Amino acid sequence: MPPAIQIDQINKSFLSGRTTNYALNNLSLIIQKGEVFGFLGPNGAGKSTTIKLLLHFLRPDSGTMQIMGNTIGRDEFRHQIGYLSEFPCFYDHLSATETLMLAGRLSGMSKNTLHIRIPELLARMGLSDAANRRVGGFSKGMKQRLGMANALIHNPQILIFDEPMSGLDPIGRHLIKDIILELKKLGKTIFFSSHILSDIQALCDRIGIIHKGKLLYDGKLADFIQNDHLEDRFVAMIEENDRAAISH
Ligand SMILES: Nc1ncnc2c1ncn2[C@@H]1O[C@H](COP(=O)(O)OP(=O)(O)O)[C@@H](O)[C@H]1O
Ligand SMILES: [Mg+2]
Repeated sequence: MPPAIQIDQINKSFLSGRTTNYALNNLSLIIQKGEVFGFLGPNGAGKSTTIKLLLHFLRPDSGTMQIMGNTIGRDEFRHQIGYLSEFPCFYDHLSATETLMLAGRLSGMSKNTLHIRIPELLARMGLSDAANRRVGGFSKGMKQRLGMANALIHNPQILIFDEPMSGLDPIGRHLIKDIILELKKLGKTIFFSSHILSDIQALCDRIGIIHKGKLLYDGKLADFIQNDHLEDRFVAMIEENDRAAISH
């Protein structure tokens, strides 16, 4: 069986004015089916760029990416993926229910199925009371919860979340963590980015650590931490890498 996600020697740069900013440097990663993979790195490391490449919102300079063995971008490949952006955007004038109806219909789901699925998902996200309210009036936390419902509406096998816990209060973060654990039990593959180390620790089988576009570690969380604290190990690795870069 092909891996859920395969990233092979991806390079990605952005031109800003006359300077070229190398956002990803020869990134390769394999995420197996059923794994919860935490993509960890400081701000500007290249996490969101990787995720946008996986969703085919951006194109790489070189390298290839596959989802369940299919080259991304082909054959309605997004139907297999649930995506939560770091900054979910919606149509302000639609209600929560209408938003999910739109997303579900775009994924090819029937209205009858959606009439059952939407109230269930809104209840799970603690949004039942807001089901018929306009999304324009939602708080950041409510938008994040709706974003999670939006990612799950079509019951995809692979979930890609960009900083799913950022900007949430403790209740919201707890809810998202619970949902990730539930999805894991269902055998889904989850790839999520974070710079919040405690969240990674509670959820992941494997982690990747990225810094300045380079993968510094890829493996089991336990092997990385050893007997230390995740935060100490993480900071030490980033600092060591920066020192090595300066001395070259
Ligand atoms: N659209 C863009 N244009 C120019 N530079 C970008 C763009 N998107 C990201 N970058 C740059 O690429 C690098 C990685 O950014 P990003 O993937 O957003 O990091 P992270 O999500 O890990 O915080 C940063 O240096 C960022 O400034
Ligand atoms: Mg980001």
